[in-house]
Amino acid sequence: MTKTIRLGINLDHIATLRNARGEIYPNPLRGAKIAKEAGADNITLHLREDRRHIIDADVLTYRQHITLPLNLEMAATPEMQQIALKVKPHTVSLVPEKREERTTEGGLNILHQQESLRDFIAPLKQENIKIAFFIEPDKLQIDAAKEIGADAIELHTGRYAQLKGEAQQKELDTLTDAAKHSKQIGLNCHAGHGLTFDNVSAIAAIMAIEELNIGHFIISEAVFISLEHAIKKMKQLMNQARQR
Ligand code: PXP
Repeated sequence: MTKTIRLGINLDHIATLRNARGEIYPNPLRGAKIAKEAGADNITLHLREDRRHIIDADVLTYRQHITLPLNLEMAATPEMQQIALKVKPHTVSLVPEKREERTTEGGLNILHQQESLRDFIAPLKQENIKIAFFIEPDKLQIDAAKEIGADAIELHTGRYAQLKGEAQQKELDTLTDAAKHSKQIGLNCHAGHGLTFDNVSAIAAIMAIEELNIGHFIISEAVFISLEHAIKKMKQLMNQARQR
């Protein structure tokens, strides 16, 4: 199993701050440049239907300015499929989306939409775009992702992040089993949601996980210690967890 672990930075909330004033700053793509220099391995931009943070221009101009692999997070809608085919990101991460939610609340339920998801990803795979499904740590969902043709799954760590004590340990065990299972059946395993300096180590120590995607906490911490230092510190904690 690989010792290294990648860190993907979700820059949505730089755009949240920009859009709060209808200004052109702070620019998420400037954040991407800093993230690259600080050691981030890829960048996630979540283009939501309501464009509440990332807007089309952020995604469309990414390639002209940034060399880090782009993970385009999106819902499986015809509109997003067209944008992904135009932008050709390195990875498309498919997430459920509800207009009224504050953030992605749960994983995608693949079991109820296997056929439509298979059709949805077919043209993207033809363009060599890697496909990841953001799902709960559930073996049935993982098997379904594999069966449809995903390259990776991203395990939802939101519940782990909110729990404490024994309940958190139980969720950690569930995530560990899910990550091992995905590796065993040949799926790359990523994880993310709600990760902070305080809770990242136990997740990074799961050797079957190859990538963590972290956004809100890093952008929040950047306000106080700078984006560069927030990313460096997160990466250091992840690498330390990997050495144990
Ligand atoms: N991964 C996915 C699929 C997400 O939807 C999000 C939140 O946008 C994240 C990772 C990052 O979560 P957080 O912002 O809580 O770090």
